[in-house]
Amino acid sequence: MSEEKKSVQNSSCLSGSGVTKIFGMGKEKTVAVDHVDFQFREGEIVSIVGESGSGKTTLSKMLLGLISVTEGEICFQGKPRDIKGYRKKKEYWKGIQAIFQDPFSSFNVFYKIDQVLLDCIKMRGGARLPYEKKVEMMTEACRFVNLKFEELTNKYPFELSGGQMQRLMIARIFLLKPAILLADEPTSMIDACSRATILDMLLKLRDETNMTIIFITHDIGLAFYISDSIYIMEHGKFVESGTAEAVILNPKAAYTKRLINDVPKIHEEWDLSTV
Ligand SMILES: Nc1ncnc2c1ncn2[C@@H]1O[C@H](COP(=O)(O)OP(=O)(O)O)[C@@H](O)[C@H]1O
Ligand SMILES: [Mg+2]
Repeated sequence: MSEEKKSVQNSSCLSGSGVTKIFGMGKEKTVAVDHVDFQFREGEIVSIVGESGSGKTTLSKMLLGLISVTEGEICFQGKPRDIKGYRKKKEYWKGIQAIFQDPFSSFNVFYKIDQVLLDCIKMRGGARLPYEKKVEMMTEACRFVNLKFEELTNKYPFELSGGQMQRLMIARIFLLKPAILLADEPTSMIDACSRATILDMLLKLRDETNMTIIFITHDIGLAFYISDSIYIMEHGKFVESGTAEAVILNPKAAYTKRLINDVPKIHEEWDLSTV
């Protein structure tokens, strides 16, 4: 690998220090995310792993700029993030996009699928491209996720299966080409076979576009399969972080050890063919 490529890969894409989210006040107060520090690098797949209620989605929403940060600072591409006002937020969202657990909730169900993809081309400034060029781009994006564009035109989202919908979400990301993709439990509502396909498509997306992928999951086995680095989250705090190998093969925190013990088989033979 050339030195230049190395330095690009090592540059920080998104980082945070002391990032905190508190909901409510007084007796009703919930500290959902509690002074977390992180550094996600360009082209890296990072997993954030924790049980339900540990603060993963709250952190995702702060990273996406969907909710405010109570305390702490987030830096995007090396500079303190400034997303005050809708215009700046919209600009920021060119750089960071998300896919969620329930793909159907991310779409206007009355939009046909080609409209969903056309909107992505528009968002990337391609509104005035000739229609044939747009079809070419949509076809390529669908091919990337093993879908056939010709079969999807004129269909509505609810006519697809959960797995197909999630692949369509990845086709959107392929068209939008953000620097960062945040995937919050993207495989938890689909069957095991589609799950493996989705994971492989995320890996392919990173390999082909050098996108940074933040993968949020409660499943430490999936995290091991897909990530370069892992952050373990418990009660709003990062209790452990490091390379996937270091965290899983040599866990330090009691909580990490428990998560690993909860995964059947992972100890015995490291059989990941079932993820
Ligand atoms: N809008 C909200 N108002 C109050 N409490 C919230 C809100 N959103 C999340 N929480 C609380 O914050 C904690 C973390 O939740 P969440 O980020 O959804 O965890 P996870 O995604 O890891 O399951 C939970 O205790 C949850 O009840
Ligand atoms: Mg969640």
